[in-house]
Amino acid sequence: MDIPLQAVIRGTGAYVPARVLTNHDLERLVDTSDEWILARSGIRERRLAADDEQTSDLACRAARRALEMAELKPADIDLVIVGTATPDMPFPSTACLLLDKLGHAGAAAFDLAAGCSGFLYGLGAATDMIRAGSARTALVVGAEILSRIIDWQDRGTCVLFGDGAGAVVLQGERNNTGRGILSNHLHGDGGFGSLLALRGGGSRYPASHATVDRRLHYVAMQGNELFKVAVRCLTETAREAMSHNNITADDIDLFIPHQANMRIIRAVAGRCGIPMERVFTNLEHYGNTSAASIPIALDEALRGDRIRSGDLILLDAFGAGLTWGSSLIRW
Ligand code: UT7
Repeated sequence: MDIPLQAVIRGTGAYVPARVLTNHDLERLVDTSDEWILARSGIRERRLAADDEQTSDLACRAARRALEMAELKPADIDLVIVGTATPDMPFPSTACLLLDKLGHAGAAAFDLAAGCSGFLYGLGAATDMIRAGSARTALVVGAEILSRIIDWQDRGTCVLFGDGAGAVVLQGERNNTGRGILSNHLHGDGGFGSLLALRGGGSRYPASHATVDRRLHYVAMQGNELFKVAVRCLTETAREAMSHNNITADDIDLFIPHQANMRIIRAVAGRCGIPMERVFTNLEHYGNTSAASIPIALDEALRGDRIRSGDLILLDAFGAGLTWGSSLIRW
């Protein structure tokens, strides 16, 4: 009997910039308070990229750490996918710039625009390309410098986001141990797209003095509406992953949801029946790093001994698009 080809995570890596911006720092920028931010979001501080850092720099540091753990070299990679809403520039892609910074050429490389779900979408695409035989060793990255697209005069958004990058190295492996990415479930709905958007700089509103005057190059968000949809979509797709694999919440060893808001995470975990002891969170220190949030959390969980061989890990993402999705992994 044929042994199935699985996509297995060989290494993880993360990088967050050194500069810390606390809630108290934000009190001096906008009309807000540490108490409000902590109570409404669970965030205490976030990291900000240095002026000379670009998204591909953050991605490169995370990627090198993932490759080191995997004991592989950049030359081993034949596929690079970067999930990002804040590429270095519209083109060339951050994935190609990253490949160059890694000192490698020739691999397939592309960016993936799925908002905060970008990493999970990338994981889904890489899994399928590996299983189909069109890639052998894939680098999947979520990397963001959101501080460059945040309106620092808008207290409704500027308190929530942070910069960072996370990466995984995936490889095809024939095994019948059940180890690997078990399933990915990806969804989108453009009907809710206006709840979280950056409208300037594309074909609808090309960059002009008028778009700058109207602040269209900044993130605009209807947080309260988004909150409700996020809880519903994250819950539905987490349940979808469990029912698809014929497991229950009791089987999940660690739940790693998108790190947007502690109240969203508690609501989703509660609705799915997963106790908070089995939920990984780090948004207190990094805020919402969009596509980077899940791979940073995964790397911290792994390096912090929260993940053991054989564990069942559930990833759950939600973001602009709207997009959402889940992945179930046997470690
Ligand atoms: O990555 C995925 C996409 N993003 C998300 O998933 C974010 C989802 N949404 C959220 O996390 C929450 O909606 C927020 C944290 C953004 C806001 O919390 P909320 O409980 O939904 O607050 P709200 O928007 O309903 O605002 C309540 C009040 C308002 O004042 P009034 O109208 O009641 O007088 C806001 O103006 O809080 C005010 N407010 C603030 N006050 C102090 C909004 N932002 C701030 C602030 N500091 N930073």
